[in-house]
Amino acid sequence: MEIRRYLDHQKERVETAMESLFLEESRAAYGRLAEGIRYSLLAGGKRIRPVLALATIEALGVDSDPLVPLVLPLELIHTYSLVHDDLPAMDNDDLRRGRPTNHVVYGEAAAILAGDALLTHAFTLLSDPVYDNILSASCRLSVIHELSFSAGIAGMVGGQFLDIDSEGKSLTLPELENLHSHKTGALLRASVRIGGFLAGAGEKEMAGLSRYGEAVGIAFQIADDLLDVEGTAAEMGKAIGKDAGKHKNTYPGLVGLEKARALAEEKRKEAHEAVAALGDRGEPLREIASYIIERRN
Ligand code: IPE
Ligand code: IPE
Ligand code: MG
Ligand code: MG
Ligand code: MG
Repeated sequence: MEIRRYLDHQKERVETAMESLFLEESRAAYGRLAEGIRYSLLAGGKRIRPVLALATIEALGVDSDPLVPLVLPLELIHTYSLVHDDLPAMDNDDLRRGRPTNHVVYGEAAAILAGDALLTHAFTLLSDPVYDNILSASCRLSVIHELSFSAGIAGMVGGQFLDIDSEGKSLTLPELENLHSHKTGALLRASVRIGGFLAGAGEKEMAGLSRYGEAVGIAFQIADDLLDVEGTAAEMGKAIGKDAGKHKNTYPGLVGLEKARALAEEKRKEAHEAVAALGDRGEPLREIASYIIERRN
């Protein structure tokens, strides 16, 4: 299969659905806040989290069309994490998705609130009664629990704290893996598991999906760390060389470029094995795992 074409197609489905979000709000009194939210949300980005959820749903043989709105919350939470990650108190970045960061354009206060609104809206969407006939309440509760757990202190937020707190200290390899599996891995694993919940996966399928999600989650951050060293700002749409400048703990920093690449490759293999049982329908998931470590942006 041609993975680029597949990813472009899925990304377009996600972006079309996202176009209508915060549109009404942007015409109301708090227009500038909603404008800032749409600025970050519709700025591009790979949309890999909702795409992973759609690929999982389809790998389980379920029609993903009616479920597209229910995978958008993953992108809302991811975008909020980026807006906050770029703030002066965090990574202090001024370029994101090829544009000036949210706080550079709208100011810090509005950027903090844009992040808050994106995070909250994820759960407004998931609990919206308009989806009552698409999904049972118990299934939606599983999705809400998965998403809130992986975004919170035991997931992304906790990992972001470890990242900031360990700047300038040197971690061991297991500590670094723990950091990455929280700050980035948790939401990627949740993307796959949410796809599983939405498609009604059984216990055994869910176990394979979780292993896949865990492996691609770590691989994704190893690739991000490698690209911070080897990538270009033009391709990445964000500044490079920032990790070394901030004395961040990264895979290339700790084990060197070659070993970091080898570890990413190991994770790719683990991911492939974890979803081997899905057969042909699992091919996009396997291709996505390869894409994640080979990508240039
Ligand atoms: C960047 O995420 C931050 C990390 C978790 C490494 P992405 O690489 O998914 O960024 P976008 O969404 O494509 O802009
Ligand atoms: C951020 O990791 C992970 C998030 C939860 C947003 P990075 O700080 O390495 O992400 P980039 O490189 O700024 O996109
Ligand atoms: Mg960061
Ligand atoms: Mg950053
Ligand atoms: Mg990075």
